[in-house]
Amino acid sequence: MPETTPEKLEFARLKGVGRKFFGGEWEFIRGVPSMKFLPEEGPPEIAFAGRSNVGKSSLINALTATPGLARTSNTPGRTQELNYFVPEGDFEGGIPPLALVDMPGYGFAKAPKDVVGNWTKLIYSYLQGRTTLRRVYVLIDARHGIKKNDGEIFDLLDKAAVSYQLVLTKIDKIKPPALEKLKRATLDGIAKRPAAFPAIVATSSENNTGVDDLKAAVMQALHM
Ligand code: GTP
Ligand code: MG
Repeated sequence: MPETTPEKLEFARLKGVGRKFFGGEWEFIRGVPSMKFLPEEGPPEIAFAGRSNVGKSSLINALTATPGLARTSNTPGRTQELNYFVPEGDFEGGIPPLALVDMPGYGFAKAPKDVVGNWTKLIYSYLQGRTTLRRVYVLIDARHGIKKNDGEIFDLLDKAAVSYQLVLTKIDKIKPPALEKLKRATLDGIAKRPAAFPAIVATSSENNTGVDDLKAAVMQALHM
């Protein structure tokens, strides 16, 4: 029998809470093209950041089990605003327990300069200035690992003391030994970063691997 530890029991509990929490209906409530269009600060926000095409929108669809909730594309640069998603329902004071925020990607070399400038401004301002931002999930493509522009985002989050956790995406595209090696290298890469949560989640939105682990991690970030 595998050994049961308090940590394993707590993780199993969080997984159950997460499955229930994400199991309802979700809706898109707002697209934010620049900071002045942000909704009033209300529910805790969990944001999904990462390079263009890393799989941010796909992961939101996998978490909520709602294909097409967030728009995805083969070509980078699909998401161009901060898109807000909340659970459906009547909540006390009209405030839902959580908002998921899908972000435009960074590092998209082919977009026009002024567009990149606007997205970068929006991403940077939001990430360092949103008081209700509870945690940022920074997605890393398992085929590519951490890149220079990911490091710039880590720097910003460390400086602003915003909690973040790394998520490997598209793990269906690499072999198990490569994944183990990548996990170790990725953990080493954030070991000295003060605001980085010292564990990573490995996911595939293609076959749902790790999606329940991510739900549990979000529940943990929300102290649920
Ligand atoms: P931008 O909004 O453009 O920054 O992209 P994004 O990070 O939101 O990526 P998106 O979810 O649109 O996915 C980009 C492409 O990767 C799409 O063709 C997805 O089908 C594909 N993709 C996303 N997640 C996975 C995954 O886990 N496995 C595989 N094989 N493909 C994936
Ligand atoms: Mg997207």
